Amino acid sequence: MPRLFEPLTLRGLTVKNRVWLPPLCQYSCEAEDGVPTDWHLVHLGARAQGGFGLVIAEASAVVPEGRISLLDAGIWNDEQARAWTRVVDFVHSQDAAIAIQLAHAGRKASTHPAFHGGPKGSLGPEEGAWQTYGPSAVPFPDLAVPAEMSTEQIAEVVEAFAAAAARAQGAGFDAVEIHAAHGYLLHEFLSPLSNLREDGYGGDFAGRSRFVMEVYRAVRAAVGEDFPVMVRISATEWTEGGFGPDEAVELAALLDAEGCDLIDVSSAANVPAQIPVGPGYQVPLAAEVAGTGATTAAVGLITEPAQAEQVLVSGDADVVLIGRAALREPAWPQRAAHQLGMEWRDIPYPRQYTRGRWGAGL
Ligand SMILES: Cc1cc2nc3c(=O)[nH]c(=O)nc-3n(C[C@H](O)[C@H](O)[C@H](O)COP(=O)(O)O)c2cc1C
Repeated sequence: MPRLFEPLTLRGLTVKNRVWLPPLCQYSCEAEDGVPTDWHLVHLGARAQGGFGLVIAEASAVVPEGRISLLDAGIWNDEQARAWTRVVDFVHSQDAAIAIQLAHAGRKASTHPAFHGGPKGSLGPEEGAWQTYGPSAVPFPDLAVPAEMSTEQIAEVVEAFAAAAARAQGAGFDAVEIHAAHGYLLHEFLSPLSNLREDGYGGDFAGRSRFVMEVYRAVRAAVGEDFPVMVRISATEWTEGGFGPDEAVELAALLDAEGCDLIDVSSAANVPAQIPVGPGYQVPLAAEVAGTGATTAAVGLITEPAQAEQVLVSGDADVVLIGRAALREPAWPQRAAHQLGMEWRDIPYPRQYTRGRWGAGL
């Protein structure tokens, strides 16, 4: 049995395999109300059919002003939670698990959705722009200037993450992932490049990591002891003076010590940078985090079954996330299982699809 297809248990959840779908913003809430649509049902449902053990629903805002764009998904109200339940129930019917990424875009909120060929950058006033906020009044280059958050606003956002987590749990999700990566709000606090605060939420590592730790603790308190809570981090900004691998490892160890169930190791996007993109380019970062003993997911240009298997066999990570390759190929895990030599009856095909299995011939 390839490692990719061994189960993984996180608290009360056992996931059938270790090939998971990372969060992928779909910008498909056309009514601009954060309510997931049929698109989300088909997008996540198809990948659950395709054999992913766990799918992570996209960055979903915990407050309306935490959206990247007006088309983002949300989990700040009960109408959204009810709509997510339909997606959750279908994913469960495919013998897959489903988590949701809880997000706040901070100073990178209020922008156009990231569609190729579409407009870019911050929304204009006539396009529905809203005031963004972040740790300091320092903009992401070419985006609107955020307002510096007060400590009261920080406390409100901590509460919003906790309430969203409870709502997600109530909607039937199996786990939540706190988004602390990619230059969004929690990452902005972690980075000395965007956090210039002089109060208890800035300065040294303890100050810059305080917000994310408070969010983790509030989410854990909201969902209880049986429910997995994961955190996605950017383990480097690929920029001198940024939040880098040493602090990432320190943060992962802190989170792990407090019971965080998995660290999802991504990188970048708080400042523009030269990123050495190539096959598995973030795996060494995951391996550093795995070295703390934390359960770890690796992501980033992992596209080939043998490559994915090797990440697990070498101990660089416990889980592999397949993003863009899964946009091209929703049933990537089934092909991987076939190419790694699994007997077809052990491959996660829905029974409706077994006649189209790999290697069946015509
Ligand atoms: C269309 C698209 C949307 C994305 N949305 C999110 C998101 O909602 N949250 C997040 O943490 N990362 C997001 N990412 C990053 C992916 O989760 C993943 O980390 C990245 O694509 C690298 O993995 P890959 O090379 O397998 O695609 C997105 C990436 C793409 C291509």
